[in-house]
Amino acid sequence: MSIFRKKKMSAPSSGSGAMKKELKTVDLIMLGIGAVVGTGIFVITGVAANEYAGPALTLSFVIAAIAIILSGLCYAEFSSRVPVIGGPYAYMYVVFGEIIAWMTGWLVICEFFLAVSSVASGWSGYVHGFLDSLGVNLPKAISGAYNSAEGTYIDLIAMLVVVLVTFWVSQEAKTALRLNNIMVFVKFAIIALFVGIGIFYVKPENWQPFMPFGFSGVISGAALVFFAFLGFDSVSMAAEEVKNPQKDIPKGIIGSIIISTILYIVVTLILTGIVPFTQLGVKDPVAFAMRFIQHSTIGGLISVGAILTLLTVTISMMYSLARVIYAISKDGLLPKFMSKIDEKRRTPKNATYVAGLCAMIFAGLVPMELLAELTNIVSLMYLMMMAVGIIKLRKMFGKPKPEEFKVPLVPFLPILSIFICMALMLQLKTATWQIFGVTLVIGLVIYFFYGYKHSLANEELK
Ligand code: ALA
Repeated sequence: MSIFRKKKMSAPSSGSGAMKKELKTVDLIMLGIGAVVGTGIFVITGVAANEYAGPALTLSFVIAAIAIILSGLCYAEFSSRVPVIGGPYAYMYVVFGEIIAWMTGWLVICEFFLAVSSVASGWSGYVHGFLDSLGVNLPKAISGAYNSAEGTYIDLIAMLVVVLVTFWVSQEAKTALRLNNIMVFVKFAIIALFVGIGIFYVKPENWQPFMPFGFSGVISGAALVFFAFLGFDSVSMAAEEVKNPQKDIPKGIIGSIIISTILYIVVTLILTGIVPFTQLGVKDPVAFAMRFIQHSTIGGLISVGAILTLLTVTISMMYSLARVIYAISKDGLLPKFMSKIDEKRRTPKNATYVAGLCAMIFAGLVPMELLAELTNIVSLMYLMMMAVGIIKLRKMFGKPKPEEFKVPLVPFLPILSIFICMALMLQLKTATWQIFGVTLVIGLVIYFFYGYKHSLANEELK
């Protein structure tokens, strides 16, 4: 059936319409960490420890890390063997055909713009806290997501940050990434500060009881903090701008996952060791922990650092979002104007603007926890598709060549990955599942009313 028409593997395009090829492994790891380490650790850890996992939050992070490492391996093999721009969308086009590719691409688009929106929303929380501490109070109506009972209608600061980031990313990729790289160092610096000071205040009795909400709490916590690892996939989106994608992209993916996993485990151990989990239900847990041990100045520094570095997550995610929209539009499944490359800047400007507009609306109206859960469910779904895809890829093209990245123990590890993703999805709230269902339907409607007719594959069949 033609909805399952496949695409041949082809290398990223070059020539006048193509983007600049200037990124290397280090840039990619920076891009990865820039996209990964953010709201998950600076904001969500508080609620996750307080309401779900208690001190066993570290264990939740370990479980989420296992899930993400398995997915990351599948990702890395795809990115090494199918080096085309578009990430999972493009990979699925090669193994499963158009409709699955589109739905995967649709989920990835949702992942990125929901993540941009949730991080912008978390960022706004930190900024509000900071403004409060300076005695500046914004009118209530414009200081939070839509909640008429609470008197908040729109989160203006979250929307403004999306506008700012959209502007950066629509400039030359390198400009945005340069800012990103500086911010990644700020991020490392504040985490190092937290760890270096916090370690002397750890009280092992705070780790007791270790699992106040039982093992099910640990798993629910893992389903929430899974968010903290998302963004590693932005690395593969840069394929068209990477010097040597086959080698650099797997290294970028695995490198950023390993580094963030280590950071998270250390930070959560110290966090729950310093502050009893019952007191962690705050919006800025990492800064709060410093204030808790009477290091208010350090707490302030961490807040400012977090405000700056959460920007990197939005930048990297927006960068990737624009590129996946660009890739899909280039194939005709989304309107053509989105794949126009700006002549002067060589970036997909229109795609960036569309991405920015959607993210801005969601950031302004939807509460952060819901955005985070939604980001997780769409991501878990397509990561599951990727694991199935690896098994199919091996059937179609055999084992990888020695120079290509290889997932060990296929099909065992991909099957384990599917199982863990499913287990985490099942932990998410009913409302999240309902919106997820609607999202899938919208995706199918776009495909059957637009993509199917306009797909470039129609030309090839003529
Ligand atoms: N992993 C990213 C964050 O935690 C989305 O902010």
